Amino acid sequence: MTNNIIEKYKKILQKQDFEFLKRIYSNDIKVYEKRILQYEFTNFENVLDAGCGFGQWSIPLAKHNTNVYSIDISKERVSFTEELAQELNIKNLTTSLQSINSTNFKDNSFDAIFCYGVFFLTDWKKTLQEFKRLLKPKAKLYLNANGMGWYLNLLINEHNKTSSYNPRKYALDCIINTERYINNKSLYQEGLDVIIEKNELLDALKLYDFFDIVVADEGKLNSQEAHSFFKGTYHGQTGVYELTALKDKSN
Ligand SMILES: C[S@@+](CC[C@H](N)C(=O)[O-])C[C@H]1O[C@@H](n2cnc3c(N)ncnc32)[C@H](O)[C@@H]1O
Repeated sequence: MTNNIIEKYKKILQKQDFEFLKRIYSNDIKVYEKRILQYEFTNFENVLDAGCGFGQWSIPLAKHNTNVYSIDISKERVSFTEELAQELNIKNLTTSLQSINSTNFKDNSFDAIFCYGVFFLTDWKKTLQEFKRLLKPKAKLYLNANGMGWYLNLLINEHNKTSSYNPRKYALDCIINTERYINNKSLYQEGLDVIIEKNELLDALKLYDFFDIVVADEGKLNSQEAHSFFKGTYHGQTGVYELTALKDKSN
């Protein structure tokens, strides 16, 4: 079933996007469902999948929660997620085309926000403020980000290199963009990665009054034995890490 939609999108997507789509669904959807259960993203009334991409997290989120809202700025990815949900007869998933750092949802709309592989592509301090606005008091946030180690992996090992994706250029663009995010915001480009070191993010979460913050290497939250897609350390530096946090009780 999923294969028919994937083949249809071969004609619609750019080569690099199609390679990404194929990579995602080379895993059984159960791999993503297992993670959702591991992270205890279940039994919520309203969940936001922030930057849903091709919907591999939205589908299990919809299975285990009452309502799921999936947003992304890519119209192809939003329409893929929509078609996949229809194909699988999932009725409690609503998609829309919007940016995660300026959404049209009301304050305190969500019991949980799930944000995989997206936060660092945005002006993340603004995104954090938006998540705080959208979450109900004590609601749950999941996100992940990359330290310098991940970009060393791209530079040194050329991870996932293809004819349409140059990991070295990607890493160099990120390093330049990070410097601009910190020191020269007018030149910073949203949509390119920014390195977010763990301590910096933890400080920002505390500043925004998030609490019960739990941090782990990618895939390892609540279970050190779980399967990871990425490593927590590359070349002795922080790689891909993830966290959950709760919004403060007061507002
Ligand atoms: C690496 S993909 C991750 C997608 C999905 N969450 C996953 O785990 O596969 C990054 C996604 O973020 C989306 N994106 C980038 N900037 C965004 C923004 N400001 N608002 C919403 N989505 C964004 C891209 O279109 C893309 O689908």
